[in-house]
Amino acid sequence: MVGKKEWKVTDIPDLSGRVAIVTGGNTGLGYITVRELARNGARVYMLSRTESRALAAIEKIKTELGSELNPEIEYINFNLSSLKSAKKSAEEYMQREQRLDILVNNAGIMATPYELGPDGIEMQACNGTGHFALTVSLLSILKDTAAMPGSHVRIVNITSGGYMFANFTKPDFTSLEGLNQKTFGTWGRYGLSKLTNILLTNELQKRFAAAGITNIYCLAVHPGAVNTELSRGLLESWPFLAPLRRIGRMMTMNPDRGALTQLYAATSPEVEEKDLKATLLFPIAQVEGKASIAKDKDGKLGRDFWRLCEELMRQKA
Ligand SMILES: NC(=O)c1ccc[n+]([C@@H]2O[C@H](COP(=O)([O-])OP(=O)(O)OC[C@H]3O[C@@H](n4cnc5c(N)ncnc54)[C@H](OP(=O)(O)O)[C@@H]3O)[C@@H](O)[C@H]2O)c1
Repeated sequence: MVGKKEWKVTDIPDLSGRVAIVTGGNTGLGYITVRELARNGARVYMLSRTESRALAAIEKIKTELGSELNPEIEYINFNLSSLKSAKKSAEEYMQREQRLDILVNNAGIMATPYELGPDGIEMQACNGTGHFALTVSLLSILKDTAAMPGSHVRIVNITSGGYMFANFTKPDFTSLEGLNQKTFGTWGRYGLSKLTNILLTNELQKRFAAAGITNIYCLAVHPGAVNTELSRGLLESWPFLAPLRRIGRMMTMNPDRGALTQLYAATSPEVEEKDLKATLLFPIAQVEGKASIAKDKDGKLGRDFWRLCEELMRQKA
């Protein structure tokens, strides 16, 4: 346990003056994350692919929080499956803001049928490559923010306990073909994509350390099993599972509870007090040991994934 008492949403500190990005903030875990960061005074950018869904979600949050809080929530278009879009979103953000204190890489899909996206990258693999493109394009503003007095910068990558499915694959990030393997099956591909969310966390933290930057904290978070729209992919792959949705709902947390661990990672002062760098958190706000595939002891998987994404960005973004 990180703390003796379970961490609560009311433990979020005052975030006035801080600016945050949450990808996929229009529904599910991202929606709650945007709402709670804004409730506590942060200006929050919702990066989503569908403008109408994002604007409706922003209005809903504003209604929920009430006008006395005057929440500041902005929208920037962002498509996880396009490296160009991710880079463009980062550029637009940097034109509008001077700082970025909290980046929550939350958007994602799960268990979808095999399909290549516009860059020729398998759609679930885009859970990793799209967030690489966004994060790397935001590095300069993250570093500038870290250099400001009293700043606390966080990069929170939402993974899944399902990263363990990558154990049934042979992760090979030396080529696009390695990333796109159809033979892994939908869960293997989801597992690989969620492994890359952890590898990005590890690699970012290493690179900040090598650059002498000690106050950017990178964490990976598994939110737990949460009742959200994530099962859309599952039902595309196996429509006959639709009647089981009610049972699924009974076995899962609601999104308010599910978002606690990422909110903890994004805001709690304990992250610095306990030096939770490159840490994997499980619900609720508990440090979890990484399986050896995610520890990536010699760093090869993380380095290969980084290099491959850089190369893909050179070609496609
Ligand atoms: N729910 C769980 O049990 C669970 C467990 C472990 C990990 N997670 C992780 O938690 C994260 C959030 O998922 P959730 O459960 O909140 O699912 P969700 O309700 O389906 O929300 C996913 C969000 O990601 C967005 N998204 C999907 N593809 C996108 C794309 N190509 N470009 C931009 N945005 C895109 C969705 O946008 P649209 O609304 O436009 O589709 C939506 O805003 C995911 O990374 C997931 O892997 C969830």
